[in-house]
Amino acid sequence: MSSTGIRVATLDDIPVGQGIAIDKAVAGTDDDIALLRDDDGSIYALNDTCTHEVASLAEGWVEGGYVECPMHSSKFCLKSGEVQCLPATENAHPHRLEVRDGEVYLFPNEAP
Ligand code: FES
Repeated sequence: MSSTGIRVATLDDIPVGQGIAIDKAVAGTDDDIALLRDDDGSIYALNDTCTHEVASLAEGWVEGGYVECPMHSSKFCLKSGEVQCLPATENAHPHRLEVRDGEVYLFPNEAP
């Protein structure tokens, strides 16, 4: 594992209140990674596939510390991945990120 992280995006690539998906081949993870930008501008990484069915959390709504799945509206905490409401019952998997000079670095499978 790289101690400096994997450069996966620039901050400007991710609109506030939205997310983008990073291919698992780039991230070196089991699932694609959703980079999610909260409405205060801070960013977080979760496994992209919703824990309920197959939906991309990167296509969800990001607001107030949570992402809402675009398919059936379960919400997950951006920081911890903890699921907030049904129908999903499993937490999303979070990953550590660092932003340096406007570039976003992913630390796959490290706790945030
Ligand atoms: S697929 Fe995400 S809540 Fe159903």
